[in-house]
Order: sequence, then C-alpha cells, then structure tokens
Amino acid sequence: MCGIVGYVGEREALPIILKALKRIEYRGYDSCGVLVQNQGEMMGHKEVGAIDCLISSLSKSGYEGKIAIGHSRWATHGAPTVTNAHPHLDCNGEIAVVHNGIIENYQSIKEGVLCDCIFQSETDTEVIPHLINICLKSKLSPTELHSGELNAMQVKEAVKEALSYLRGSYAILVAVKGFDGLVAARKESPLIVGVGDREFFVASDVPAVLNQTNRIIFLEEEDLVVVEKDSIYIENGGSEVKREESLIEWTIEDAEKGGYEHFMLKEIHEEPKAIRDTLMGYLTEGRINLGLDFIVDAESILLVACGTSYYAALCGKYIIENLAKIPVRIEVASEFNYSDFVLDGSKVVAMAITQSGETADTLTALKKAKGYGCKTVAITNVLGSSATRLADETIYSRAGPEIGVAATKSFITQLTIFYLLGLFLSKMPASVFAEHINELKRMPQIAQRVLDEVNIQKHARYLSKYEHTFFVGRGINLPISLEGALKLKEISYIHAEGYAAGELKHGPFALLTEDTPVIAILTRDDIYEKTLGNVKEIKARGSPVIAIAEEDDEEVEKYVDDVIRVPRTSALFSPIPNTVALHLLAYWTAKERGCEIDKPRNLAKSVTVE
Ligand code: G6P
Repeated sequence: MCGIVGYVGEREALPIILKALKRIEYRGYDSCGVLVQNQGEMMGHKEVGAIDCLISSLSKSGYEGKIAIGHSRWATHGAPTVTNAHPHLDCNGEIAVVHNGIIENYQSIKEGVLCDCIFQSETDTEVIPHLINICLKSKLSPTELHSGELNAMQVKEAVKEALSYLRGSYAILVAVKGFDGLVAARKESPLIVGVGDREFFVASDVPAVLNQTNRIIFLEEEDLVVVEKDSIYIENGGSEVKREESLIEWTIEDAEKGGYEHFMLKEIHEEPKAIRDTLMGYLTEGRINLGLDFIVDAESILLVACGTSYYAALCGKYIIENLAKIPVRIEVASEFNYSDFVLDGSKVVAMAITQSGETADTLTALKKAKGYGCKTVAITNVLGSSATRLADETIYSRAGPEIGVAATKSFITQLTIFYLLGLFLSKMPASVFAEHINELKRMPQIAQRVLDEVNIQKHARYLSKYEHTFFVGRGINLPISLEGALKLKEISYIHAEGYAAGELKHGPFALLTEDTPVIAILTRDDIYEKTLGNVKEIKARGSPVIAIAEEDDEEVEKYVDDVIRVPRTSALFSPIPNTVALHLLAYWTAKERGCEIDKPRNLAKSVTVE
C-alpha cells in the first residue's frame, strides 16, 4: 500500500526521508521516489523497485535541503514504472505531490478543468499538482506571482480549492517551490504528524517516524495541515482546529501492525476499507466500469483458482449465475491443468483468481485456457504480477498488501469483484440494478458493524478446546463455510471440514459426537428451512451447534446452542458479514490456542511451484 513521508525542519531532509521510507517497506511497494526542496530548487528522483536502489542512486546526488517528501508506491492506476512513481509535478515542475488513496473522478478532471494540461503518467494522482497550480495562479496577483515567494496562507488556500475538485480517498503531501513548508491533507486515508524540536514529520504511518519522535498527532478526517519548521496549523471545515499530541509507546514492530497483535487481525480490520477501495475503483455514479467490454459477449465463464481464491470463485459462481444468468464453471487450477477438459474457447471467458498473481498452478491454468482459445482475465491484488502479464485483461482487487499468510482482506475483495462482475454482466431492469448497487455500497458499513458489534472471543474460547469441527452452509454460503473451515484449520491447527449442510448425512454423521462442534451458517435465504432441518439432524446426533445468523432471527436460537449474530443483508450479500465473522472466529480461536498466527506451519503466502 502506498506510503508517504515528509520532513520540514532544521536538519538535512533527504537522509531522514530515505530512512522513513525504509521503515515503511513492510507495507509493500513496487516503486519509490523523493523530492528535496531548497529555496528555488526542486530536486527529485524515482526508481522502480527497492528503496535501497533509491538510496544508492542518491548517495552522491548532493541534494541538500531542509524540506523533502517521499513515497513508496503500490501500483493502482498504471504499471509500476518510473514515470508513474511519485512525486508527481505540475507542468512547471514547481508543485510536487505524493498521494496515498484513489481519486475516483481523475478522468473527468483530466477531460474537464485540466483539458489543456499535458500529463506524464497514467496515475490518478497527477491531476492534483496540476489542480493546485491552477488554483494557486488564480489567487496570486501578477506581482506575487513573479516574486518567487509564497506564504502559508496562499499555498493552503490553493490546496484547499484543489481538493474541492476531488472525489475519492487521499492522504497527500504537497511541496511548493518558494514556500518553506509542506501542506498535507487526508480523507479516508491515514495521515499522522510527528512533532520534533523545531521540526515536523508527516507520514501515512507511525513507524515511518518512530525513530525520530514518539510525539504523534493523529490527523482526523478531512484535516488540512500546514507545517513550517516552527509551526503547525490544522484546519477542518474552514476553521482552525487543535489536535492533541499522543505519546506513542509502541515498539517499531507493534507500530507496523498498527497496534494490533498480528497482521492477520489488522488485515481483518481493514476488510471494510478494502471493500470500499475495490468498489471505488470500478463504481462511478452508480455505473460499473470494469474496462472489459468483451466479456459481455461471453456465453459462459470458466473460473480457475487455488486455495482461498478457489472458494471466492465458488462464491463467484453463485453471484454471477444469480445476477447475470450466465453459466459459470469452476475448476481447481491444479486439477484443470492435467484434465481432459472439453471446451470451445471461442465462447468462454476464462478468469484466473489469484491474490498474489504468482500461484504456479493458476498461471498454468491460465495458459491452458489460452490454449483453448479463451479470452482471459486475471483477478488479482498485485498489479504487474505474472497473472496480469499472461492474461488479456486484469481486474484488480484493491485490498492493499496482505502480510498474514492466511488470506483475509484479499478474499473479501475477490467477493466484491464478483458482485461487480455479476452486476456488470446482468441485464436486469435499471431500478433493480440500482437497488443492488445501493446494497453493494453498504457492504463496507456492514463489514464494519461485524467488527464493532460481534463478540467473537467468547465463541473462540469455546471452540479452541476441541480438535475436530465441521462448518456447514448451503447455497451461496456453502463456499463461505468452506472458507471458514480452511481459515480455522490453517491457523489454529484444529481439524475443520467445510461441508454442504445437506451432505453430512451421507457420511460425516458417523463422526458427529458431543466433541465435534458444528458451525452452521443459517442466513434466511430461500433454503433456510431446509438448512434448519439439517441443523436439527446434526443436533440429534449430539454435536453442539453454533449458528451464524442474522441479528433479528428469533427462530434460530430454539435449535442451536449458541448464535453469532451478524447484520442483516439480502441473502445474496450475506457472504460479506458471514466472512468477516468467520475470519474473526479463526483468528481468535488460534489466539486462544497460542498459535503463531501470521506464519502458520508449513504454509506460504505465495506458492510458486506446481
Ligand atoms: C497459498 C496461500 C493461500 C492462497 C493460495 C492461492 O496457499 O497460503 O492463502 O489462497 O496460495 O493463492 P493466490 O495468490 O493464487 O490467491
């Protein structure tokens, strides 16, 4: 995920910025850049790849100055190239911006108010320095314009006006030639200010500055900040505001995890934001633009994937078939690769679902699908990964880097992509489409409510004492029960089997005892009564049952031992709250058992061998 850093003070800025960028390497990035400002000069350098390359390229640069900004980029708009790396500049090279987030309406800004500008990069960010330039010029008299010096008020007002054009999310840092300070702003992306002695640090993340100061101001939504070496000014909604400093006592390692004990927990807590970012990338003014018009002609879709991504694909089948009425076939990549598959590729779009974009089995499947003549699409979280290079087109899930081996936020963004795809391919009446879009837009909130309101730890304590469990569901929630079981087994080492609720009677009943708890997803869908019937059968065999059910389902508690209650949605969207609950259940159960959660034994995040 992009990281931004800035410094203004009395010391040489470049070494401070480079160290800060090193400290946020853990966030993941593919390219990086810095810019040092020294009175009349703006000196920048960008690299594709490691911060160490940036450090070695700049070792003899002689860039001196007491103000600098830096950025580590995780590509979203445009490939990881030097041109797309930040900082981005206006056409005169006098306004430099680093940005974390997504500007939703950058295309219409380019075509509208900035139609006369020449853009260097494919990024959404580049509109920001150009906008600031226009706004600044409109505020200065000819004398001020040529004086070469700017004051804080002029720059702040220009940035503020530029921000008013933007829709989306941002944390930005702006350096302007002739101004001895920095302007920063945030909306839906984190930003902090580190306070030193006659110096300030601005960063997207506490670890970036923790070796310099532990006095941190956590900026709030829509704060606009001006820092000069001796002063800080914060404004919100047009008026000056005061923000308290916090004294941080975290270690660097704690800080990388944002105060959470494990990356997995942090990443589960990022699920609402990951859904929101994914939606923002493809949903504008109620319309979905996936940039894949050829899939509209597909007679059927083939999904290939491994592991958690395979379960997302299974859920995707239900979603696409429900919304778009197009037949979907799913194959485990490693099986598909060596099967005698009968396929007329001219009518089939093949999609590889892979968070890393590097899973060897999935890449082989993608090649095999191409061999059949299918048009191919990669659904991945990593821009520029091998899958994106192999496939004809890419849909990018915007979960940001995931460090915990167990996939969590990447899974939920894959589901989000399937909702977008299903709706994109659907031919439903406009009013029904609009209802679905509205519900989809509620999903970040729904996921957040699970995080805020559901007390999973009690259930996790209970589950942690057992060695065997079943997770059951039906319909669209069958894949979610498979995902719940996979997550539990991989991090808590409890034997967990995901099963279609109606299938237990064909074998697994033999294993049901009072020592085999069953987690049953009991969303009130069309087959609720049948699933409830299955649960009654399970209870009759002596197994304790914990249901995952909607907050207002009063019926369910009559038949089960305990209920994890999640917010109500339509059945079609219920995988979202159910997934968040199951991810939390796996996490807290593993925590109870004292497991090494982020790096489970024998597993790897990206499996590059067949
Ligand atoms: C590994 C990971 C899983 C992941 C699977 C597929 O086994 O540990 O979390 O689901 O690979 O990975 P992909 O990157 O293709 O989604």
